[in-house]
Order: sequence, then C-alpha cells, then structure tokens
Amino acid sequence: MNDMSETAGGATTHTLTVTDNATGQRLELPVRQGTEGPRVADIRRLYSDLGIFTYDPGFTATGSCESKITFIDGDEGVLLHRGYAIEELAEHSDFLEVCFLLLYGHLPDKAEKEDFEQTISMHTMVHEQMRTFFSGFRRDAHPMAIMVGVVGAMSAFYHDSTDIDDPYQRMVASHRLIAKIPTIAAMAYKYSIGQPFMYPRNELRYAENFLHMTFNVPCEDKPVSPVLARAMDRIFILHADHEQNASTSTVRLAGSSGANPFACIAAGIASLWGPAHGGANEAVLNMLREIGSKDRIPEFLKRARDRDDPFRLMGFGHRVYKNYDPRAAVLKKSTDSVLDELGVRNEPLLELALELERIAGEDEYFQQRKLFPNVDFYSGILLQAMGFPTSMFTVLFALARTVGWIAQWKEMIEDPVQKIGRPRQLYTGEARRPFVPLDER
Ligand code: ACO
Repeated sequence: MNDMSETAGGATTHTLTVTDNATGQRLELPVRQGTEGPRVADIRRLYSDLGIFTYDPGFTATGSCESKITFIDGDEGVLLHRGYAIEELAEHSDFLEVCFLLLYGHLPDKAEKEDFEQTISMHTMVHEQMRTFFSGFRRDAHPMAIMVGVVGAMSAFYHDSTDIDDPYQRMVASHRLIAKIPTIAAMAYKYSIGQPFMYPRNELRYAENFLHMTFNVPCEDKPVSPVLARAMDRIFILHADHEQNASTSTVRLAGSSGANPFACIAAGIASLWGPAHGGANEAVLNMLREIGSKDRIPEFLKRARDRDDPFRLMGFGHRVYKNYDPRAAVLKKSTDSVLDELGVRNEPLLELALELERIAGEDEYFQQRKLFPNVDFYSGILLQAMGFPTSMFTVLFALARTVGWIAQWKEMIEDPVQKIGRPRQLYTGEARRPFVPLDER
C-alpha cells in the first residue's frame, strides 16, 4: 500500500486494482477523495512495483500536486478560491483582499486587511536602476517580451528575497511581486508609447494606482475614474488564480528545482504569453476585427469546424470548463454597464461578439464539444473600451495572475511531498544501434 507518511491530505477511500495482463501482476492503488472534485488514483507505485509509466500528453488526466487554493468544477461552471465562489468575490471583495485570501487561506479581518494593503503599497516602487533596463528594448517590443525580461531581472535586484528556504524571504518576495508588477506593467506600456514613466502613488488603491501609472502623464495628473478603477479591480479578481493551468504548472515546475521566485514568475509569464492561454483575449479582438461584420460569422464558423483549417474560434473552449466559464458570465454582465458608464454606445465589436456567441451556441459542432465562451471572450472588448491597446491585454492577465502563481509556488515549497518535477516519456525513437563512420554512410 501507499506510504501514508507521504500523504498530506485527501483521505484514501478505497483502492483501484491494476492488473498487468502481460505478467499477471496485480497492484492495489490507493484512491483519494479531496474536499471536492473527482477521486484521484495515487499511481506513485506503478513504476516501482509494475515497471510501467503512464502516458498522458497535455496532462488531461493527471494531478500533479495536492492544493488547497482553488477548485474548479468544469462541468458545472464552478470556480472557488479557498472555498469562496468567484461570483461572490467579484461582487463583494476587492483584488488585494483576494490576494490575501489566496496567499494566506482566509479572508482578512479589518486589521489584517489594512496591514496587508499598507505592506503592498510600501513595495510599489521598483529599484531606480531598473528604469535603465527598459531603454535596452526596442520601442516596438511586445510588452510581454519586456515583462518576461524585467520580471526575471528582479532576481538581480532583490537578492534579500531569493532564499526560498527562508519563510520570511518567501513572504517578502511575494509582497514585492504583487506590489511591483503593476509598476513594471505600466512602465512597459509607457515605454512602448514614448511617454515618461509615472511613479506609483501610495495613497491610491491598487487598481486605481495602476490606471494612474498607465494613463496619467506628469503634466496632467488626473483623478482616475472610480468606474474604471472598479472594472479594473474586478478584471484582476477574475484572473487571480485558476489552479494548475499551463502557466501555473510552469511556475511550479520551474520552482520545483529550487529556482528563485522572480525567475519562476518570469517563466509563468512566458507560458501565459501563448495564444492558447493568456494571449487569447488579444487573439479574440483580432479575430472579431477580421470577421468584421455579422454576415461573415457563418464563414468563420465553417472554418472553425474544418479539421484541416488551423483556425479556431478564439475565446471559445476550455480545457476544464465544459460549461459556461463563470468568469465570462461575470464579465459579460459588467461589460454592458462599464461601456454604458464610459459613454460607449452600440460598440460594434460587442454586438458582433454577442451575435457570434448566439450563433455558435446554436451550432451542433460547438454544442457537441461543449465549447462555450471563456473569460477571454469578453475581457478584450472591455479592456479596449477602457483604453488599453491589444498588446497590453496579456500583460494585464499576467499582472493579475501573479498572485495565483506566487500562492501556488509558496504552497509547493511548503509541501513536504514536493519533489523536483520530472515527467517521463514513451520513447518511440531508434533502438540502440552502432555508430556508422562517415565514409560508410
Ligand atoms: N474552435 C473550434 N474548435 C475547437 C475550439 C475552438 N476554439 N476549441 C476546441 N475545439 C475543438 C477541437 O478541435 C476538438 O475537436 P475534435 O474533437 O473534433 O478533435 C475539440 O473541440 C476538443 O478540443 P481540444 O483542443 O482537445 O481541447 P483542449 O482542452 O486541448 O483545448 C483550448 C482547450 C486550448 C482552450 C481550446 O479550446 C482553444 O484553443 N480555444 C481557443 C483559444 C482560447 O480561447 N484560449 C483561452 C483559454 S482560457 C485561458 O487561458 C484563460
């Protein structure tokens, strides 16, 4: 049986019997039940006892860790952080409170909330020398390229918070990352448009401060619209964590070797950049622009259905959600009101998106495969209305997800079962063969 000393939680309820039909050997695998979600077979003894690995490209059936942070029920469209539903957090909480919740496991009381907000606001400035880093980039560099570079470079500036074995340093690194990532993101934007960097203002709230650094200029320092600040804060909440997705798994895998947290988050940013993950909201907007008008929707749906055409309907489908993405539902609701508050009427891209969702929803191909709009489908429209260029969309996602990455990284470091991540493979290359000298080839 499984060595229970290596099992931190999730009671073993029964066993799963595996029989190797080639040898007749049998193995009883413990099956564990978490607080929520499907049962999980603990396969750690499969190789040592039967000499068999599992094969699971894309890890569609593999749990890589035990976690207490986020739960998703993809069939029901449920997303919980530390047990709280995302809809309730988006409605009643604020981003820094959600950060505290993800990092420490409970909602802060009044004193904890004030203390945390104060701590984060005291870390918002970046080392002055980091400013010179930016001038090394071309002006037309993608802001995600700048993010990968500059966040990775934080490890060269904050040496006193890179010792991963020291809980205090881990905490300081977490606070630094959450506090400085908006400053770096705003600097990446300012650099790309040739405007001077804006220093953070610590009397402003988190999202408000980010909007100030992004859209204000030294010669015109206007108050940030509370409607925009609330919308931004809500977008950050909706993107804060999403359990073991590609970028989070990247952060955990990078961290499993003992790499410092700044390097790990830079690895997460790189993974998020791809169009199948965080780059999707940028791709949604590009796609909507390409579709252009409602009468061309059928043509694009036809392409999406065609297996020989690489085109996919961006913003549709999700590895886990086989129902409406609850984050998309929250965003869809707020998109309308935010556009209204901003005075944007009859936004053509929103009209097109709604029509696309309606037609795709009635399409057998999308119904059969349970392809619903995901969070990226509406976020792009909202972000564009708020004044962000598409190239900044993934940067905003990275900004918000930093807390999720860091909470998951911290949980991994503190997990006694944690080992360096090292998947195995099904080798199908050449079997061993003798070297052939050049003149005999
Ligand atoms: N358009 C058309 N067909 C699709 C789409 C889509 N957007 N998504 C999935 N399918 C089809 C696949 O071709 C496949 O069809 P088949 O069974 O005939 O082969 C079937 O649906 C299952 O899709 P998979 O690719 O196996 O699903 P997977 O879980 O691997 O992919 C993913 C999920 C990557 C998100 C995919 O749905 C996709 O590419 N969507 C568009 C990009 C996107 O919006 N990404 C954002 C994800 S959310 C986020 O990162 C925050």
